[in-house]
Amino acid sequence: MRSACLTLLLVSICWALPFRQSGFLDFMMEDESSSGDGPELIPSKVPVGPEMPAGPVCPFRCQCHLRVVQCSDLGIKNIPEEIPSDTTLLDLQNNKITEIKENDFKGLKGLNTLILVNNKITVIHVKAFAPLVNLERLYLSKNMLKDLPANIPKTIQELRVHENQISKIKKTSFTGLANVIVMELGSNPLTSSGVDAEAFKDLKRVSYIRIADTNITSIPKGLPTSLSELHLDGNKITKITVNSLKGLKHLAKLGLSNNEVSVMENGTLANVPHLRELHLDHNFLTTVPAGLPDHKYIQVIYLHSNKIASVGTEDFCPPSYNTKKAMYSGISLFSNPVSYWEIQPITFRCVFDRSAIQLGNYRKK
Ligand SMILES: *[C@@H]1O[C@H](CO)[C@@H](O)[C@H](O)[C@H]1NC(C)=O
Ligand SMILES: *[C@@H]1O[C@H](CO)[C@@H](O)[C@H](O)[C@H]1NC(C)=O
Repeated sequence: MRSACLTLLLVSICWALPFRQSGFLDFMMEDESSSGDGPELIPSKVPVGPEMPAGPVCPFRCQCHLRVVQCSDLGIKNIPEEIPSDTTLLDLQNNKITEIKENDFKGLKGLNTLILVNNKITVIHVKAFAPLVNLERLYLSKNMLKDLPANIPKTIQELRVHENQISKIKKTSFTGLANVIVMELGSNPLTSSGVDAEAFKDLKRVSYIRIADTNITSIPKGLPTSLSELHLDGNKITKITVNSLKGLKHLAKLGLSNNEVSVMENGTLANVPHLRELHLDHNFLTTVPAGLPDHKYIQVIYLHSNKIASVGTEDFCPPSYNTKKAMYSGISLFSNPVSYWEIQPITFRCVFDRSAIQLGNYRKK
């Protein structure tokens, strides 16, 4: 109803305009070779909406508005036909699609975002994405894919394949995807042997990778140096070796909560000089990780729910007066065997405010 009124309004304005802006139109008409009776030309020169065809096509039961085609929650089993060729966003989430066929996206050259979250997709034809030469966002989470799709467009910036059945990330899975910024691979049945060491090497601009809630036992190898956030929470990682974070000079956030880490080797933190936030809660650490006093930027470190039995006065802060460039704004140590009253207050001399320290294992009882 409203859009009908809007269309009528636009049409009437468009018809009214020529007679008001006569100066501007005179100028335009000078360019016309046949500058005969001007006014008759005007209506066709002034576009009534962007290239509106006789009857705008929109797939049955979907909603189409401003190049967005909305077909979510319809129970559909196939990708609809007759998707307008100028579509930029196609939303097909919460349906019952099982397969993506070769010609499903034919002609969708302008498509920027494709949302297929929460379907039942098991098969994607190897050429299905070939027409999508401008695709930047591909959301395939919550499906039943056993493999990453082949031939993902090189323009892709954000790829989400969370909660599928993917057990392998191959050397060729992301070949040539130099524009990826965000990569979400969590909740897939991955093991460390299923993640190839060279899988990530082409992702030269990636800044965010999440591989949470899988069964990997070590930090994936060959992570790109552009990374600023790495989320590996909820895995089975047992050890953080010095080399596992080597070269990640832009890493600012590292999530390793809910793993089985018992050792973080001395020297690891020196490899990530710009780390600001480190989540190591719910692991098996028996000591505070080495290297914190020498680290210049770390501000938040979660160590609650570990097996830390003692905390020394030099575990967090440098011995001499502040050589850190940023003070801590969050340290958590509760739910560890260490008794909070055994930790000397001077231990936290480089903490911004006392409220930033959460020791309170006494609160739990
Ligand atoms: C991890 O392994 C366990 C035991 O084999 C299995 O039950 C679980 O489903 C696996 N997790 C994932 C995300 O595949
Ligand atoms: C870590 O290594 C540095 C440099 O080799 C050394 O000075 C420091 O004492 C070590 N820390 C621990 C806790 O072993």
